[in-house]
Amino acid sequence: MDIRINGDNITVTENGVERKLGIGTPEAFKLLSSLWLRSGWDTKHVYSFTWMGRPIIQLPEDVIRIQEVIYRVKPDVLIETGIAHGGSLIFYASLFKAMGKGRVIGVDIEVRPHNREAIEAHDMHYLITMIEGSSIDDKITGKVRSQLKDGERGIVILDSNHTKEHVLAELWAYSEFVAVNSYIVACDGIAKEIAGAPRTKPEWATDNPQSAIKDFLSERNDFVQEEPVFQFNEGQIKERVTYWPGAFLRRVK
Ligand SMILES: C[S@@+](CC[C@H](N)C(=O)[O-])C[C@H]1O[C@@H](n2cnc3c(N)ncnc32)[C@H](O)[C@@H]1O
Repeated sequence: MDIRINGDNITVTENGVERKLGIGTPEAFKLLSSLWLRSGWDTKHVYSFTWMGRPIIQLPEDVIRIQEVIYRVKPDVLIETGIAHGGSLIFYASLFKAMGKGRVIGVDIEVRPHNREAIEAHDMHYLITMIEGSSIDDKITGKVRSQLKDGERGIVILDSNHTKEHVLAELWAYSEFVAVNSYIVACDGIAKEIAGAPRTKPEWATDNPQSAIKDFLSERNDFVQEEPVFQFNEGQIKERVTYWPGAFLRRVK
């Protein structure tokens, strides 16, 4: 694809066919966003944010969108696989503190001592339980279950190992913790779109969270893939600019 930008006009040539897009159109925004996402991947843009002092490895738009979902769903509990520096756990806990409801369970195969120390010393820690071990180990999912009151369910965010096999196993293992009309969110489906970029593997084109979702949904009729509706939109953009394409699966029964 050849893209030329001349002031407010964009000319896209693909397979010999030329398209002209005005800068102020949703089509141009979509094209520029996909370039921005790719450039952001190469430059590690998402590795530059913190929430209340802890690094959060997320695109800011994904953070705002998941906040919209959490505030609407108001879950009793949020379970996240993939803790890293703890910024996302702190973020979710801070929302729950502000809402006066909800708590967080985080699972990671390895919580490094300096991260554990910082998370345990944080003001939000009283709303967070951390469980160390592989998210798909039965013993670990058992520990998650033991943290829940009888039949308690909430929202689940899968942000650990993003291979198809791992995400698929997580979808099966954690779907039981999702309340009806709440979501299981399989993050970082962007892997599919950026295969071939630096720090990726060619197999990411098929070995990615989006493929896991497809397989999961082919066997489950209690979940549907559904974009959360924007809670406010006076603009022309109707699609998320995201590292989490197609990530939201709503439990329907
Ligand atoms: C992308 S980071 C998580 C980022 C974090 N959620 C945030 O928003 O800042 C991925 C994390 O998944 C963890 N991880 C990798 N494989 C795992 C597994 N099998 N089970 C649980 N956690 C795993 C890694 O140790 C790493 O901390």
